[in-house]
Amino acid sequence: TVYRASTTAPVNIAVVKYWGKRDAKLNLPTNSSLSVTLSQADLRTLTTASCSARYPASEGDSLLLNGEPSDVSGARTQACFRELRSRRAALEAADPSLPKLSTMPLRIVSENNFPTAAGLASSAAGFAAFVRAIANLYELPASPSELSLIARQGSGSACRSLFGGYVAWRMGDKADGSDSMADQVAEASHWPEMRALILVVSAAKKGVSSTSGMQQTVATSGLFQERITKVVPKNMELMEKAIAEKDFPAFAEVTMRDSNSFHATCADTYPPIFYMNDVSKAAIRAVETINANVGRTVAAYTFDAGPNAVIYYLEKDTEAVVGTFYHVIGDTDGWKKDVLKGLKPTMSLDEGVAGILKNGVSRVILTGVGEGPIKTDEF
Ligand code: DP6
Repeated sequence: TVYRASTTAPVNIAVVKYWGKRDAKLNLPTNSSLSVTLSQADLRTLTTASCSARYPASEGDSLLLNGEPSDVSGARTQACFRELRSRRAALEAADPSLPKLSTMPLRIVSENNFPTAAGLASSAAGFAAFVRAIANLYELPASPSELSLIARQGSGSACRSLFGGYVAWRMGDKADGSDSMADQVAEASHWPEMRALILVVSAAKKGVSSTSGMQQTVATSGLFQERITKVVPKNMELMEKAIAEKDFPAFAEVTMRDSNSFHATCADTYPPIFYMNDVSKAAIRAVETINANVGRTVAAYTFDAGPNAVIYYLEKDTEAVVGTFYHVIGDTDGWKKDVLKGLKPTMSLDEGVAGILKNGVSRVILTGVGEGPIKTDEF
């Protein structure tokens, strides 16, 4: 017998950023964070986990990522395997009639529906799907929050991809990390009008990885202490209130301020780390122009550990936001015809800003808030 289970898991983009570890081994953060889960119609990882007594023990556990064999010997992947296996072993010990899946080698097959070349953080969706798929295979009675404890050890941001909608990762304060997990702040259906326009920016070279970048920031930035003790706790509070009240201007201001604060600590790292480039900065200027022209805040930018811009907006403001960028960037891959239909170029951007965006954006992704992992039969 081959036992199998499949799941999808979504990408999430933080509006209050995780940046800094207080324990690198357990992957415990220096601050809480909050993200929006994005729709799996546009961005998702599909993962199948299988195990069998017939799989040769000598091969051990394996992972096929987008068709390529991938190394599973890393400490983070091993931690996920170990945690999931020990939970299964406990079930088997309690009920001897269960098949001994915990003793069988695991084969994991994982695929993204978006090109890795897009430079989008796929580790969040990847580890969330990995953990969810094995938990399904093992029929673990664990809640998404419990599974988030495991996914966190694979990649911090992955713990937030176990839920849909609006998700917080509570930093916790226990040394063993047992209270550092994700919970859902609001369902996607609470505020379904949230949209995201992602401007994929072609970077000349791969920048500093988030794992290494945040360690350097913790070790060298003075500004960082201010961020984790004052800025983030306040932003978490304001963001949860903005989401509860569906207050977009408040959501937008915290999103932009928190992205700016995170990138300021990167610039304050010694030597400094720069994730945003000229195209990213042009996207910031464009958002400011759109908000100024409309006369209220209709768009909010945020940047992770790379130059891509994620711009949040509400569906009713599609014309002002998407219309403006489409008018400037033109027919790049990823625009959706149904969204563009009838959009008029309502405002013009500064010529310099427009030129940089036109040349520097290689692809766009139009998406919105979405659901958490979905069990599937597709193998
Ligand atoms: C800037 O989750 O990739 O995207 O825990 O070392 O795997 P590791 O880091 P990772 O860091 C994400 C950083 C960020 C902000 C965020 O997603 O909150």
